Amino acid sequence: MQIKLENLNKSYDSVDNGQKQVIHAVDGVSLDIPENTVFGIIGKSGAGKSSLVRLVSMLEKPDSGKVFYGDKRVDNLPKKELIAERRKIGMIFQNFNLFSSRTAGKNVAYPLEIAGVPKEKIAAKVKEMLALVGLSDRENAPISTLSGGQKQRVAIARALAAEPEILFCDEATSALDPNTTQQILSLIKEIQQKMNLTVVMITHQMEVVRDACESVAVIENGRVVECGKVKDIFTNPKTETTRDFIKNISLSSSDAKDGIVKWTEKKGSYLLHFLGSATGEPVLCRMAKEFDVCFNILAAGIAHLPDEDVGYMEADISGEESAVAKAVAWLSENNVRVQKK
Ligand SMILES: Nc1ncnc2c1ncn2[C@@H]1O[C@H](COP(=O)(O)OP(=O)(O)O)[C@@H](O)[C@H]1O
Ligand SMILES: [Mg+2]
Repeated sequence: MQIKLENLNKSYDSVDNGQKQVIHAVDGVSLDIPENTVFGIIGKSGAGKSSLVRLVSMLEKPDSGKVFYGDKRVDNLPKKELIAERRKIGMIFQNFNLFSSRTAGKNVAYPLEIAGVPKEKIAAKVKEMLALVGLSDRENAPISTLSGGQKQRVAIARALAAEPEILFCDEATSALDPNTTQQILSLIKEIQQKMNLTVVMITHQMEVVRDACESVAVIENGRVVECGKVKDIFTNPKTETTRDFIKNISLSSSDAKDGIVKWTEKKGSYLLHFLGSATGEPVLCRMAKEFDVCFNILAAGIAHLPDEDVGYMEADISGEESAVAKAVAWLSENNVRVQKK
């Protein structure tokens, strides 16, 4: 299911130190979220992510603007239609929001009970969903006996039991350790493909975007400041906010796994990303010959992004100043993205 947002706005009144204030939590957001993909929304705490998700998931109405699921406008539906449309959505959260007094199986059964599904069907569906998330043996386990990762698996099973077309994940891995985060992200990607879901992944962690998302919107102060394919955001960030997010993480999720080789601890003064055709061409060699410059490679590797592999390299490029400038410009025209460090 494709989602389209048109100029969404939402303000809240708040009281700060006895002073009344209006907070423009969502400020003119327009976005196209394609179907059958994992789409990231990243922003710092307070950027307006959860407010935006409440509008997109029809939990709250925007002050102005429109939300479309496919061709259907859904932000202004009467209650009955709203309930029907909400069946297309599943949601998971940082704190799992499970019923702690129920077993894993009974949690997964809950949305089906509400929807009036016959008992035998529920029993079968619960087993199917728990198998999907790798928890077949924990059906009768009380929630309190499960680990954080297992709880999020139950939450995923519950969110998807009624076969929605969209899954919203609001900071779904923020309470989990890095290993468990990786497992949950792999599971979400796998299920996304199996069920042809549109997954909207809300996070403040760039690692989550890198490891799970195809495209991403960066939000700040309720506005989208940058939006695009993850590989473009990483290799050619346009805003300071985005540069901040990617500053301390490499494009590769695990250096060892992706075979990065570092010749020295010294960092090169240029970071090069090789996209598409550049990976099969001797671009550096050609650059050196054509512009009479030298290059020295200090580290290199391949990052496996969800939809493409990107080669990258840390290098020094030396020679006459104007020749280096020309060489760098030429690289940019030949599918190599260059960032000066
Ligand atoms: N119901 C509300 N009432 C008042 N202020 C709110 C409400 N919801 C969100 N806000 C404010 O809107 C801003 C964005 O919040 P939120 O959407 O929760 O950000 P994020 O999820 O990115 O951390 C914050 O300043 C927050 O205090
Ligand atoms: Mg939030």
